[in-house]
Amino acid sequence: MQFHKNFNLKNYNTFGIEAHCSTFVEVQSIEDVCQVLSQNTLPLFLLGGGSNVLFLNEFYDMLFLKNGIKGIEIIQDTEGGTIVEIGGGVVWHEFVLWAIENNLGGVENMSLIPGTVGAAPIQNIGAYGVELKDVFEKLDAINLQTLDIQTFTKEDCQFGYRDSVFKNELKGQFLITKVYLRLRKNSSKLNTSYGDILKVFIEKKIEQPTIRDVSNAVIAIRQSKLPDPLVIGNAGSFFKNPTIPKAQFEVLKEKHPNIIGYPNNTDGVKVAAGWLIEQCGWKGKKQGHVGVHERQALVLVNYGGGKGLEIKALAQKIQTSVLEKFGIELTPEVNFV
Ligand code: FAD
Ligand code: EPU
Repeated sequence: MQFHKNFNLKNYNTFGIEAHCSTFVEVQSIEDVCQVLSQNTLPLFLLGGGSNVLFLNEFYDMLFLKNGIKGIEIIQDTEGGTIVEIGGGVVWHEFVLWAIENNLGGVENMSLIPGTVGAAPIQNIGAYGVELKDVFEKLDAINLQTLDIQTFTKEDCQFGYRDSVFKNELKGQFLITKVYLRLRKNSSKLNTSYGDILKVFIEKKIEQPTIRDVSNAVIAIRQSKLPDPLVIGNAGSFFKNPTIPKAQFEVLKEKHPNIIGYPNNTDGVKVAAGWLIEQCGWKGKKQGHVGVHERQALVLVNYGGGKGLEIKALAQKIQTSVLEKFGIELTPEVNFV
């Protein structure tokens, strides 16, 4: 293990924001984590791929601990499913590709989501009709106070839309070391309900899609909509899609017939935040080094040299205009550090 002093985090956050921390270390094992934490006196920040964080400060007198715990292993293989144990430091998309290669279904709709497997439960990642919770079995995490390893079932994790217990009561208290997912051997059971995926199949005349076809379709859709962080700094959707009461949605629909909303299981309607932001005139707008992406208004971008506070200020202006125009409050999905 190598400890780095005054470490530049620019390449460790997908916004590409220049920030330094006093100490940085990448751990490869649970033993590494225990060794580092038993000696550490600095405030701690747990870092995965840095694809859902916004660094507001230029310097953190903190220990940034990057999860590099690797390994993918099938630990149970029955008719009911295949349970796979994955190290928290594995890159999510590399795991998805491994699952496809092994003809195991369940995660193909979540192809190309950036970041690590260990961070996936934090906000219950999701895309194109599937969320982590749909394949989740359990996870192991180290209690950062006691250094004990604790197992969390799906129920313990309290998953919700872009939410879990680790963003609430247990925020900052556990480091997720291993995640166990239940995948399907029968790869014919696909989730292709999302309109965009069906469109690709029709275009490409794919009549009996495989998990690889779904993955390829999702990759193509994502590449056409979302900016590549290696080209333009961003953290995916900056805000969550807000859920509003059905009655409020009906009133808004009278005034704005094109408003986009999807009924929830509950009595609410989930509204497309990208549409709201676009209607407020923000799409493609640039302010200094930062701006709103030209193809996806829910994605804030750093054109280079932008600071975290500039992005935060832009986000606040967007929140204000959406609140004024539609009476809807937007909540950030990105974690401010
Ligand atoms: P980081 O950004 O490093 O960390 C995120 C949070 O988790 C921080 O609070 C951190 O302290 C904590 N954390 C990280 N690792 C651990 C750990 N092992 N134990 C405990 N806490 C930990 N998300 C979606 O859900 N769906 C999408 O479709 C999607 N698309 C995206 C597209 C782009 C282009 C980008 C840049 C991001 C997108 N995201 C999406 C957001 C992001 O990919 C996910 O939130 C991802 O899970 C973040 O993983 P990470 O390893 O980068 O986490
Ligand atoms: N839209 C607009 N204008 C825009 C952007 C979107 O009108 O500028 C409309 C689209 O036309 C579409 C609707 O809004 O009708 C929804 O857009 P899209 O399908 O692009 O999805 P999204 O709601 O913007 C969500 C997730 C993404 C996820 C995709 C696919 C959230 C906050 N975002 O985006 O997740 O990949 O659906 O499932 O739930 C992330 O969390 O970082 C992320 C990228």
